[in-house]
Amino acid sequence: MSLDQYFTLGRSGLRVSRLSLGTMTFGDDWGWGSAVDTARAMFDRYLEAGGNFIDTADLYTEGTSESMLGQFIEQSGTRDRVVLATKFTYNAQPGNPNAGGNGRKNIMRAVEGSLRRLRTDYIDLYLLHTWDRITPAEEVVRTLDDLVRAGKIRYAGLSDVPAWYAARAQTYAEAHALTPLVNMQLEYSLAERNIEHEYVPLAQNLGMGITAWSPLAMGMLSGKYKPSQQGGEGEGRLAKVTAAPGFERFTARNWKIVAELEQVAKEAGQSMASVALNWVATQPGIASVIIGATKLEQLDANLAALSFTLPAPLRDRLDAISAIDKPFPYYMFTDIQQTRIHGGVAVGDKPESYASRVFVPAVQAREISAKR
Ligand SMILES: NC(=O)c1ccc[n+]([C@@H]2O[C@H](COP(=O)([O-])OP(=O)(O)OC[C@H]3O[C@@H](n4cnc5c(N)ncnc54)[C@H](OP(=O)(O)O)[C@@H]3O)[C@@H](O)[C@H]2O)c1
Repeated sequence: MSLDQYFTLGRSGLRVSRLSLGTMTFGDDWGWGSAVDTARAMFDRYLEAGGNFIDTADLYTEGTSESMLGQFIEQSGTRDRVVLATKFTYNAQPGNPNAGGNGRKNIMRAVEGSLRRLRTDYIDLYLLHTWDRITPAEEVVRTLDDLVRAGKIRYAGLSDVPAWYAARAQTYAEAHALTPLVNMQLEYSLAERNIEHEYVPLAQNLGMGITAWSPLAMGMLSGKYKPSQQGGEGEGRLAKVTAAPGFERFTARNWKIVAELEQVAKEAGQSMASVALNWVATQPGIASVIIGATKLEQLDANLAALSFTLPAPLRDRLDAISAIDKPFPYYMFTDIQQTRIHGGVAVGDKPESYASRVFVPAVQAREISAKR
């Protein structure tokens, strides 16, 4: 598979590459990104390879990421070709609670700032960045719908929210014929598989494509770090910010995954990063993997991630070493139901060839069955 094969994002007509370019490393404002020349070279290389899906946020490198992207897109004349995703939530004015969060006032403020920095009059995919624990889902959905109607954004989605909140938002949008959410952006990698319990089936059932962030666990799965007394050492982001909350990747579990990944990659004749990205890209529910890099060589290595098929026995080993526990109630939704719920009959509601490839929303499905 190559980057110029495009697939629809969730239940939408928006067609995107299976690898998306993450730009949280565009700009060095946070001490672990790239200067403008390297960022520009990575932008050009991604587009040359056929990629069309680029992710940023107003938060990233304090606005530098959006500003750089705006400049690159304008100079390369690629605005129509690029599917540009950005996000709101994070606060830009200390002391002012309405200059952050997901309320209507902040979304309306944030979108204007992003449009200005991105040098465009529309955003292709606008995402709520993080749940603020306050704003009702209905307010977010209505505001995003207004932005679509005003021509400022084309599609909407959510990142880093509880599953119940995403389900509430999508159901409300569907019930009121408002702009549906077509994307959930969530952390997913061999090191972080918790979305498998709730978010993957949610996204598949409600028409949202998942885009996976930190697919290399912030560089951990590239294999360049070694355990040390401080936790881990090596060249890169994790060694620079190892103690910061949200960056704890040097764990005993992760070192075991890295060791098995190293063996599997050797046997597959691929780099560890490529194998780790390939695993994410081919997991259920994943629409696109958001790759990150600070150097052109890293980007090149990562762009090779779709060029091979991981043999099933090697994949099984990665599945096993990274397997997560099934907490309550998920352990109940397995084959232990076979006898007590399904009377010993195999589970499966449709023959394989019968399953529709096109998702039919609940409202439409009710209309269809009423006409029959
Ligand atoms: N929605 C959210 O909350 C959220 C959160 C985080 C990220 N994101 C998005 O997801 C994107 C990707 O996240 P991420 O940067 O954390 O992804 P990642 O793939 O887990 O980590 C990327 C980092 O790993 C290192 N690396 C990448 N490829 C490598 C290779 N082949 N060999 C060795 N080292 C390599 C580089 O850092 P060093 O050179 O410093 O080692 C690179 O910056 C971001 O740009 C952003 O767009 C979204």
